[in-house]
Amino acid sequence: MPPLLLGARDATAIDRAAQRLAQGGLVGLPTETVYGLAADAENATAVQGIFAAKGRPADHPLIVHVAPDAPRAAVDAFASAVPPFAERLIAAFWPGPLTLILPRRADVAAVAAGGQNSVGLRCPAHPAAQAVLRAAAGLGVRGVAAPSANRFGRVSPTTAAHVAEEFADLGEDALLILDGGACDVGIESTIVDCTRGHPVLLRPGVLTPAQLEAAAGEPLRARDEAAPRASGTLESHYAPRAKVRLMDAKQLRAAFQVLGDDAKHIALYSRTAIEAARGTPKRRMPEDAAAAAQELFAVLRELDATGVRLIWVETPPTGPEWDGVRDRLNRAAA
Ligand code: TXA
Ligand code: MG
Repeated sequence: MPPLLLGARDATAIDRAAQRLAQGGLVGLPTETVYGLAADAENATAVQGIFAAKGRPADHPLIVHVAPDAPRAAVDAFASAVPPFAERLIAAFWPGPLTLILPRRADVAAVAAGGQNSVGLRCPAHPAAQAVLRAAAGLGVRGVAAPSANRFGRVSPTTAAHVAEEFADLGEDALLILDGGACDVGIESTIVDCTRGHPVLLRPGVLTPAQLEAAAGEPLRARDEAAPRASGTLESHYAPRAKVRLMDAKQLRAAFQVLGDDAKHIALYSRTAIEAARGTPKRRMPEDAAAAAQELFAVLRELDATGVRLIWVETPPTGPEWDGVRDRLNRAAA
């Protein structure tokens, strides 16, 4: 029996999702970045259900999502301190695709935090996510833990169908998926560590360093070995079954020319028009970084589903607005 799939526009579906969360169940939750696999962040058994369903190691912390109405009160429920630069980031980017790592209150959400003394917090912008968080808050759920709704190490889902595919073996009682359409942002939130006295970028997303620095009022530092572990920051992540390889347009052209009809089993995702053998699964990457991010994971899934052994991708441009896409592709290729 497959998971239960309900349209997010339906108010009763929102209520059912909130009730599932309050009762310790799992919900496939649409957000503006990617779909999350959600559970009550303060219900240890429910959170263990997320780790089990994903096959994710229990020491990899999850992001806790809070409702948009009183985000500061929600933050204070989980975080023991909020530095001024983090306050400014919240004011500038919430609700939205930004996760802040803050020192965690000792007595809350330890399992969701993977045992770290910090907690990742985010207030999502997707109206369905907000409606569920609000309804769940009314039932006593202060925060909802939700990693991306994919099996550990796999490509994040950006549609409800992707989530259903990932967890096809979970029945109606085990997983309710809300269909909120294709995600607008398409790659996971930007993560900024706010526990070290200055902002540290742990995971790039669609917010550029310049935007983050302008809002924080402080330079953004790069992550180093002291940074907490984060599965989204593991080198090999976001991987389809086929091997991903990044090449520039010149290398791609030369390689397809040399291979000719032997290029079967290779799919192509490039901004530049490249000639390849007939029948080569091909997609054009948008010129616009936001549009490329929006479709990236769906395209990787689609090309993967053709059964190719290799997906050759044209290296994205170097501009900061491409940081998120470049990061995910580099990890997919690792
Ligand atoms: O856009 C997103 O962030 C999506 C949607 C569903 O909100 N969620 C997501 O979750 O990408 P996940 O678990 O796939 O990635 C969250 C990342 C992980 O790399 C995790 O290790 C890191 O956030 N993280 C969470 N809490 C942390 C903490 N206390 N310290 C360090 N890293 C943390
Ligand atoms: Mg993930």
